[in-house]
Amino acid sequence: MNVLVTGGAGYVGSHCVRHLCDAAHDVVVLDNLCAGHRAAVDQRARFIEGDLANRTLVRSTLTDGAFDGIMHFAAHLDVGESVSQPLKYYENNVINTVRLLQEMERADIRRFVFSSTCATYGVPASVPITEDIPQSPINPYGHTKLAMEWAMRDCAEAWGLGACALRYFNASGAAEDGTIGEDHHPEPHLIPIVLQVALGQRENVKIFGVDYPTPDGTAVRDYIHMDDLARAHLLALDSQEPGTFRYYNVGTGTGTSVKEVIDAARRVTGHEIPAIPSPRRPGDPPELYADPTKIMTELGWKPKFTNIEPVIASAWKWHQAHPNGFADES
Ligand code: UFG
Repeated sequence: MNVLVTGGAGYVGSHCVRHLCDAAHDVVVLDNLCAGHRAAVDQRARFIEGDLANRTLVRSTLTDGAFDGIMHFAAHLDVGESVSQPLKYYENNVINTVRLLQEMERADIRRFVFSSTCATYGVPASVPITEDIPQSPINPYGHTKLAMEWAMRDCAEAWGLGACALRYFNASGAAEDGTIGEDHHPEPHLIPIVLQVALGQRENVKIFGVDYPTPDGTAVRDYIHMDDLARAHLLALDSQEPGTFRYYNVGTGTGTSVKEVIDAARRVTGHEIPAIPSPRRPGDPPELYADPTKIMTELGWKPKFTNIEPVIASAWKWHQAHPNGFADES
């Protein structure tokens, strides 16, 4: 297939681009490099540096590309920032996505895979989370992603868009050859922060909350490896049907606490990794992990990484080889 990947220079996008290329798809990446890295883009893909807000560019790219489908990753993703700067999130995650959908309708492109998030569930009444629990996000980031799920559902009905929203849990790890991985500035995520401590780049990791109603008092998340996440995207693309909106949780089904992540990182790296109990981070739900039965049953997806240690080991390989992230590549 001819596939356009927006945000294909970002963390999840770049891993999906590699998997698409491995599967012999023809890939074009559109990325403005505001958070992505040129060096993360597989050399087999064609790269266009540009912004989704540039309507002329998006129109000509879609008109010229003869694309069979689009994977849409380009978005802002920092939950905390979305609270302080909501309109930045509505502008990029909503307005730019609506424009992209308009251009897709115009160019008659009907396969769309969208990176949604477990943040659309807010604080769930129970775990594991199935797709049929009410979506009630608690921050602007989650609102913007849910709004786009609604838009896709309506477009499926109105003009035959085939869309699939993948609701990721905690995207983690790195390509197993250690050549691409996570590199955010600033870095908000637990695993890279813990590994930066192991590398001596930070003195310690703060544990945000040790009084949660969880077995060890720290927050529980579902850490899904990049390769498993990327395979979910390819299955979603392949199985797309015009006029249908589908949605799947993409998680392992296993919850891992912050303390368990730090302990696993100590075992993987052999470093002490000092951890400081600290107040809760505002907006963090206590416990989020997926029930992935729906994607396993309907798409035949199965996670290969079901244990946190190999996930951290893959990230450790990346961080050791690239202590300054993609800056080492330029
Ligand atoms: N944490 C710490 N210390 C840190 C960083 C994180 O204790 O220095 C904790 C957080 O409080 C949380 C857990 O580690 O309990 C995981 O935090 P991350 O920042 O790695 O990930 P989040 O679960 O906050 O965020 C992820 C995605 C978001 C998505 C969100 C849904 O990155 O895009 O899940 O809740 F919106």
